[in-house]
Amino acid sequence: MNAAGLSLWARARAIGCRRRNESLTGTGQETEPMEDAMRRAARAPLNASALELMRRFPTAFDLRARASRRMPRFAFEYMDGGAGADGGVKRNWEALDAVELAPRYGRVVAPPPSDCVLFGRCFSAPLGVSPIGGPGTAFPGAEIYLARAAQAARVPYTLGVLSGVDVERAAELAPDVLWFQLYRFANDGHRIGLDLTRRAQAAGVHALVLTIDTPIRTIRPREVKAGIVNPFKLTMRLRLDAARSPWWVASLLKNGIPRFASLAPYMKPSASLEEAAAFIRREQGGAFTWDEIAKYRDTWKGPLVLKGVLHPADAERAVAMGVDGLFVTNHGGRQIDALPASIDTLPAIRAAVGSRATLIFDSGVRSGVDVARAIACGADAAFAGKSFLWSLGALGAAGPAHLINVYKDDLRAVMGQTGCQSVEELRLLARRHPGAWTAADYEVPLASGA
Ligand SMILES: Cc1cc2nc3c(=O)[nH]c(=O)nc-3n(C[C@H](O)[C@H](O)[C@H](O)COP(=O)(O)O)c2cc1C
Repeated sequence: MNAAGLSLWARARAIGCRRRNESLTGTGQETEPMEDAMRRAARAPLNASALELMRRFPTAFDLRARASRRMPRFAFEYMDGGAGADGGVKRNWEALDAVELAPRYGRVVAPPPSDCVLFGRCFSAPLGVSPIGGPGTAFPGAEIYLARAAQAARVPYTLGVLSGVDVERAAELAPDVLWFQLYRFANDGHRIGLDLTRRAQAAGVHALVLTIDTPIRTIRPREVKAGIVNPFKLTMRLRLDAARSPWWVASLLKNGIPRFASLAPYMKPSASLEEAAAFIRREQGGAFTWDEIAKYRDTWKGPLVLKGVLHPADAERAVAMGVDGLFVTNHGGRQIDALPASIDTLPAIRAAVGSRATLIFDSGVRSGVDVARAIACGADAAFAGKSFLWSLGALGAAGPAHLINVYKDDLRAVMGQTGCQSVEELRLLARRHPGAWTAADYEVPLASGA
């Protein structure tokens, strides 16, 4: 898309948000337009404890450092580790760091608003929480704290199917911002997968996210070395490790042993943790095929999103079959080391789909600057996984709300610094992106079935 096309697209989206007279509860009945309420909330001064957190933990890496000291080793290694030697994790960070944005001065006088529209719904910022399986392993009660913080800040929260609260409960906690992620449960004609889809629809989930980038199970050596075994077993080593972290144990006592709550109706009642893990191994696996995606497209009536797209041809194919959005992600570097940094694939994917799809970027986001970089490179929003877990490990229930504040403040600072008066204008910034994949890089005959 050329600059004029981008500008029109950006303006149409901005107007979409401003015209929509949605309320903060999403009912459309209240008198205060949602955009005004979000602006007011954004301008409201932080209270004393929020300010104190800003002073002590001004960046995501400050949270990471504290989490590494406070968590049981297995929990930190689970949330922080990548595939192989963490090469994919590092590549994501380095590729983001390499993206430069050229500012335009002499324009903005007030801190710009950060609101945006995703799939027809207004959010307070173009950032969100990526799906996380087994987040209770990282921090017991994680889903509850993440859902509450996202709802309060009005940013999307993607509940992973392998979570400790079920989709119905999550919809109570985050009624306006809930997205739901599914892995492939293909047995008996996708009995479980399609039933979960219907339950998500009935619960009022906004967008359904199908993860397509886990065709096989891969190994994360840091987890293995920390004693996490597959199939999962609550070994004596893990128990002793947990006992060394009173902080983590307190949250466990408060929230209970994490279960796979959305899947409970399909398991035998009172299945132990080990039995639940065995059930998942039996029932879940592989990545959705295009035919299967078509089936979910027919069943799911709202925005459908594919998570794990790194190739423009896959992006085009998805859009052609009616998929509304794509997560451009390499799973945070957790699958294999050799995948490209997802930021490097984003411009080519945007060029391929134009304005026909909403693009969510994730993998490597650690700051509002990274969010701005992703938008400048073609994303509609940037989500994060690991850093939200660091926030929980460092600050417990208060962590996610604090991290959202950090990201939002940082994003608005970048917008002000670069002369952007809206999120849409970030797309129009001049940028240098040395690692970007070009169309020519993708020119290799695909294997059969492409
Ligand atoms: C502990 C952990 C568990 C994850 N579980 C899932 C999952 O169940 N489903 C999924 O689609 N992605 C999962 N992801 C990947 C995230 O959704 C996201 O793509 C990734 O974390 C983004 O990169 P970042 O961690 O650098 O922000 C997980 C990530 C982490 C860190």
